[in-house]
Amino acid sequence: MPGAKSVTSNQETIYKDLEEVVRKYARTTFLRPIADHTREAFAKAEEFVRTFYENATCSVKADTATECGVTHENAQKTDPGIKTGVTLKQKGNAPRAVILDSGCGTGESTIHIARRFPNIPVIGIDKSCDRLNKAGNPVQTAGDAIPPNAFWIRAELLDFWRLALDHVKADKWTIPYHAVYYPNPWPKQSEATRRFHMHPIFPTLLALSGVTELRTNWEIYAREFAEATKIVFDECARIAAKELYGSPPSLRSVEDDERGNRSVEGDHSNPRIICEYFDPTAPETAFERKYKEAGQTLWRVIVGRT
Ligand SMILES: C[S@@+](CC[C@H](N)C(=O)[O-])C[C@H]1O[C@@H](n2cnc3c(N)ncnc32)[C@H](O)[C@@H]1O
Repeated sequence: MPGAKSVTSNQETIYKDLEEVVRKYARTTFLRPIADHTREAFAKAEEFVRTFYENATCSVKADTATECGVTHENAQKTDPGIKTGVTLKQKGNAPRAVILDSGCGTGESTIHIARRFPNIPVIGIDKSCDRLNKAGNPVQTAGDAIPPNAFWIRAELLDFWRLALDHVKADKWTIPYHAVYYPNPWPKQSEATRRFHMHPIFPTLLALSGVTELRTNWEIYAREFAEATKIVFDECARIAAKELYGSPPSLRSVEDDERGNRSVEGDHSNPRIICEYFDPTAPETAFERKYKEAGQTLWRVIVGRT
């Protein structure tokens, strides 16, 4: 996909009402009913995770295939004897580590992440059946088998994330890494509240994982995402402090580093937020590849809660 156009927008800087919108949603709960199809999809993902940990030294069976015909079916056709090479056994009732690749599109990043974390199941989630049907194709795997810890599922993220957070809160899952690579930017100002960080789902997104990585080809989106993260954590601290002491603390300061990137050092209760441009040597998603080939600057925000 050469010649990708950079984002054009009638918005030249951070959205003017960002703070107001984000604070409002940090104080409220997103209550839209969860769709049945995403409950079913979540159950399949849960089953994949369970099977992965129970049979970690065996090849993963294809019976978790989604309605889109993805997951490990293709890999099993070409290499029915794939092994995980890991000896994971879930100890007691400890939460199971799970990685999410949200809005994975054609699923290429799920493969890269699964190779990076071979002992942890990686769930690629997207609502597009057409895109998911391309997941795990030989071009993506360079002829190798699909990593047995990679799994794709068709689902609505706004619902899947809430179900996943319920699992995290119930100590069933822990999510050490959450990839949100190249979400739809919704660049028109009139569509700004469709961006994940200006949506009521955003506090849920941030609560899911100890490390969340957003990638985007639009600097404003990255800056907004970083700022919105800071606002959510500040609002949460204010609410907690008000409950404890009857008055909120002041907003944390933001430092600029030598490259002009903004970062906030966190402690055990606050996030570390890095917002920076980056140049991937090997693109990990279809969109990343087309933006890089077009010479665009890529941005990422990494939110770490320790
Ligand atoms: C711009 S594409 C990026 C795809 C992939 N991450 C990449 O970099 O190639 C955004 C993807 O997010 C998916 N998506 C957007 N909103 C979603 C939602 N609410 N639930 C599930 N998938 C969603 C779209 O279907 C699309 O595949």
